[in-house]
Amino acid sequence: MSVWAKHQILEKNSIILLLGILLMVAIGGLVEIAPLFYLKSTIEKTEGMRPYTPLELAGRNIYIREGCYLCHSQMVRPMRDELERYGHFSLAAESMYDHPFQWGSKRTGPDLARVGGKYSDDWHVGHLIDPRSVVPASIMPGYPFLKETKLNTRDIEGHLKTNKIIGVPYTEDQIGAAGQDILAQATPDTDASDAFLERYPTAIVRDFDGNPDEVTEMDAIVAYLQMLGTLVDFSIYDDKANLR
Ligand code: HEC
Repeated sequence: MSVWAKHQILEKNSIILLLGILLMVAIGGLVEIAPLFYLKSTIEKTEGMRPYTPLELAGRNIYIREGCYLCHSQMVRPMRDELERYGHFSLAAESMYDHPFQWGSKRTGPDLARVGGKYSDDWHVGHLIDPRSVVPASIMPGYPFLKETKLNTRDIEGHLKTNKIIGVPYTEDQIGAAGQDILAQATPDTDASDAFLERYPTAIVRDFDGNPDEVTEMDAIVAYLQMLGTLVDFSIYDDKANLR
């Protein structure tokens, strides 16, 4: 029996053919996926990346809760128009602490991967309360209740713990202090904010929502937005890649 005649057995029996296809796809999948788990170059090491602060993480959870990702991506593609509009293309390392990641492909609004520092806190607060007040043609919905809603700080320690289980390198100190750090980042010039900065030296401490009396969901989401894309210093990459 020639090889081709043997192949006819597969062609004539759909179940065997199906098993054969599954076997081939499984081998192909293994060859492509398995190396990603042990190759060091899958995620290039990048200076400056750190886990989210408790306030930023809470802001990120609100971002997901409100479905901001349905209109906004967080990944700058390595294409000229994107580089000119948003800045350096996104690196894998920039979303290494994102669970789940927010890359997305639906862009009803602009990409937000590099929005940190682009506008003032005031602009973000005004924009989130009523987008039309700063961008008259905007079709983005308003989220005025964020400023009225006191931030829930009870379960933040659990969020840090869960992130640690799936590989985010939070220290025991950071986890234990999460409940006070989440408030401290939005209450500058206090002992608590000094202690917070020792745990997260590169974080921004500010009263993000303009209301010093209370830490609200608006504080959290603006802290998150203002951090996006600001952790990695891209000047070193620009020289190397010469892509901009
Ligand atoms: C229905 C789609 C939609 C949803 C949902 C949405 N946005 Fe937007 N967003 C837009 C559009 C369109 C723009 C561009 C016009 C503008 O600036 O308002 C925009 C602009 C922005 C900008 C300014 C970006 C820049 O570079 O100028 C930020 C920041 C932003 N959105 C944050 C958010 C956040 C945070 C949420 C969730 C709380 C959210 N958006 C939900 C559509 C949306």
